[in-house]
Amino acid sequence: MKSLVVGNWKLYVNSVAEGKKLLKEIDRKFPRGVKSTVAVCPQVPIAAALRAEYGGRRIAFGTQDVSADLEGAHTGSASALALASSGLAYVIVGHAEMRALGDTDEIVSKKAVAALAAKLHPVICVGEPARDTEGTHFSFLSKNVSQSLARIEPADAARITVAYDPVWAIGQKEAPSPRVVSEAVIFIRKTLAGMWGRDAALKVRIIYGGSVLPESAAEFATNSAAQGLLVGRASVDAESFAGIIKAFS
Ligand code: PGA
Repeated sequence: MKSLVVGNWKLYVNSVAEGKKLLKEIDRKFPRGVKSTVAVCPQVPIAAALRAEYGGRRIAFGTQDVSADLEGAHTGSASALALASSGLAYVIVGHAEMRALGDTDEIVSKKAVAALAAKLHPVICVGEPARDTEGTHFSFLSKNVSQSLARIEPADAARITVAYDPVWAIGQKEAPSPRVVSEAVIFIRKTLAGMWGRDAALKVRIIYGGSVLPESAAEFATNSAAQGLLVGRASVDAESFAGIIKAFS
């Protein structure tokens, strides 16, 4: 399975001009021999404009959220159909920053299904808000995974990515160790196997997100079970993002 490196540009890039400049720099620093898929997810209008302008082939485009509804009387969001028709291929759903605004597991599950219906590849974020010594985060995570993916058919296993993106690890100085991440990735896969059976569970790509930098990316690539990374801050610094891409090549 190809690994996936996704840059979540959040609201860090707020104009097409800024986005173009950043893409150009990433393209210039893009390492040789990259075998993973690389995608960037700017906010909607910028993503569509940049995708239309981008002449290269090395970077795929996505965005950071999608409506749970495919069409109809729903004000304010962007439908999966509109995103797909703008040339976007990926969409992040259930990011902690969207969950903080009210996205429940059920909404996340509906958004993922809407994305699949429009042939987008959803990157479904899961992860516990905090950790404790009793390991209650595992029961949180198991429910979080099973409910956020509840509406997805096992036949679509190869068309989704699950991002272990725990709230406590986002926006920190350092990422957790590859061991901690591997443990969670393996636990997520076991949860999926319980839902869908082993064969389907093995088809799901599971990546890690939370305070990834080039140094930690190299560690994750060599010493963890994660099949790629979801990168926030470091994805809007061309040098750092290129370093992260390189780690997963
Ligand atoms: P960060 O963001 O890399 O800036 O910690 C990660 C995320 O929000 O998934």
